Amino acid sequence: MRGGLTRIKAIARGRHETSGQEASRGKAEPLSDPLTSHTPSPGCWLTDPLALLDEDNALRLDLCDLLEHIADGLPDNAAPQLAQLAFAAIGRGWTNHVAFEEEALFPILRRYGGSDPDLTAGLNQLAAEHASDAGLDQEIVDALHGLTRGGPPRNPEMVGYLLRAHFVPMRRHVLWENAFLIPAARRLLSDDDITTLRDWIRAREPHKCSCGGM
Ligand SMILES: [Fe+2]
Repeated sequence: MRGGLTRIKAIARGRHETSGQEASRGKAEPLSDPLTSHTPSPGCWLTDPLALLDEDNALRLDLCDLLEHIADGLPDNAAPQLAQLAFAAIGRGWTNHVAFEEEALFPILRRYGGSDPDLTAGLNQLAAEHASDAGLDQEIVDALHGLTRGGPPRNPEMVGYLLRAHFVPMRRHVLWENAFLIPAARRLLSDDDITTLRDWIRAREPHKCSCGGM
């Protein structure tokens, strides 16, 4: 997972700043999906599902930086390779993010919400943001797909607006999760809860388990 973070940063900084003009003219090459790449770690990621969420959120912040970088380069520097990277990353990672939180983590935390109305309100807010971002995603995907073909977009102002309309609230969402959700989960979840989360991830995303099961 850390390898994916490093790759996004390296591509966003290196190619765009040193050879962005060439990239904008060149043809997009196939790039691997950084959200599904797995870098072996000393321990299994599933040992601590909240650390995995923390890493996913760090990657999402990198993706926001990448989208901002692409938006800032429009219209002359459309950077199809960067758009290809963002195009590959944006859909799948978000789907997994929402599924993990709404199908696994939030239901567990809601059991603790009876004694903590702020927790319930916070979870409701995050769920509402998931729903609103899901509606925006297809427009972003379409815009990024258009940029992968190279050259300035037909309507750069609209593409820039769409990118910013995605990464600004997304960045806020992730930072709020880092400040509120993950600390609350660390404070409240029992060992059994952590096991439940671990089993849920292993069933949905077995590639994230590097130990073959615990
Ligand atoms: Fe979320």
